Amino acid sequence: MNFEQNENQGMIAQMVRDFAEKEIKPNMKNWDDHEIFPEETMKKLGELGLLGIFIPEEYGGSGFGYAEYATALMELGKVCGGIGLSVAAHNSLCTGHIFYHGSEAQKKKYLPKLASGEWIGAWGLTEANTGSDAMRMKTTAVKDGDHWVLNGTKNWITHGLSGDVAVVLIRTGDLLDSKGITAFIVEKGTPGFSAVKIKEKLGVRASETAELIFDNVRIPEENVIGDVGAGFKQAMQILDGGRISIASLSCGVARGAYEASVKYAKEREQFGKPIAHFQAIAFKLADMATEVEAAELLTFQAAYLKDNKRPVTKAGAYAKYYASEVSVKCGNEAVQVMGGYGYTKEYPAEKFLRDAKLMTIGEGTSEIQKIVISREILK
Ligand code: CAA
Repeated sequence: MNFEQNENQGMIAQMVRDFAEKEIKPNMKNWDDHEIFPEETMKKLGELGLLGIFIPEEYGGSGFGYAEYATALMELGKVCGGIGLSVAAHNSLCTGHIFYHGSEAQKKKYLPKLASGEWIGAWGLTEANTGSDAMRMKTTAVKDGDHWVLNGTKNWITHGLSGDVAVVLIRTGDLLDSKGITAFIVEKGTPGFSAVKIKEKLGVRASETAELIFDNVRIPEENVIGDVGAGFKQAMQILDGGRISIASLSCGVARGAYEASVKYAKEREQFGKPIAHFQAIAFKLADMATEVEAAELLTFQAAYLKDNKRPVTKAGAYAKYYASEVSVKCGNEAVQVMGGYGYTKEYPAEKFLRDAKLMTIGEGTSEIQKIVISREILK
């Protein structure tokens, strides 16, 4: 594994920093306060090539790998976890599912629109009563001629409302049969398909989350992704990659919180000197710095394995588990370093903490990552 950033990573990092300065920072408080999902900003991210980062150029993507993808998300996470989450869900989940498992016709039809940002993508596995226990999902699809009829609901779906297209995992076989779940592509506007926005989230409030409702939704056979019954394994493989993206975003949030803490600690004076000169604060910064570096290394290791087509289940879970916990710790310590100011919205610490908390929950909780890791090391 190479520890140096490649030229593309450097270029992408600078591009995202410039974009964040101009387009995200001035607006993110408003988005966060009012839970606004900025679709126009997403379109602009698409124009920059950030919505099809690892999609090959022949399908309209940027043709980069996971190393570059991780870099982009780290930079976004430093500024706004919500926008970062939207970029991650769009790339690794919806777009990634069609890219890795879709037919040539599906790739040609959907990837150029998704990679350019003309269309926003959603992905739905979770249901209200089946989060960690994804296999027990209740939403069903029943064959009717050359169509499938979908009924049920999906919950906690990023871009459920604004998404132009969703990849959804639906039961087509028996409960608890790992070959009883199939992936479908569902387009916005399909009769019977609707969504309701989930409000009052703690963090990542610029990223839209919704419940999807399927009421006798008729989906043509050509919208099945891969084989009937192959959906659960596809979903697990997609989450293996998705977890690298949440790890990357977590690293960004953690580094953002750490950098804000360093800046504050150097400026804020108590007892006649900057608080950074007190060991109690300096050691907090040392812990944060060490843990952020370790999280980044685990994340780039997972990205390297993914780019080299090596197994990533364990490495992705290591990265996601560790980096997300570090992001919460750094967000929490940033509030502590800033004291009363850190507890207010005038300073960035509390938003880092709120955004970080999602990272230990979405795309598999920390507890699920420990199940994945323990199964891998014990098998
Ligand atoms: N790659 C390929 N195949 C895999 C796999 C992987 N990483 N993990 C499991 N499988 C296969 C298994 O080999 C098994 O195959 P067979 O039946 O042929 O032997 C099959 O899938 C079932 O696996 P398990 O027996 O391990 O299944 P399980 O019910 O015990 O669950 C789990 C395993 C790891 C707990 C899994 O359910 C899981 O990851 N849960 C968390 C789900 C999650 O992360 N949800 C968040 C989704 S995000 C979302 O929906 C909203 C959004 O917009 C972001």
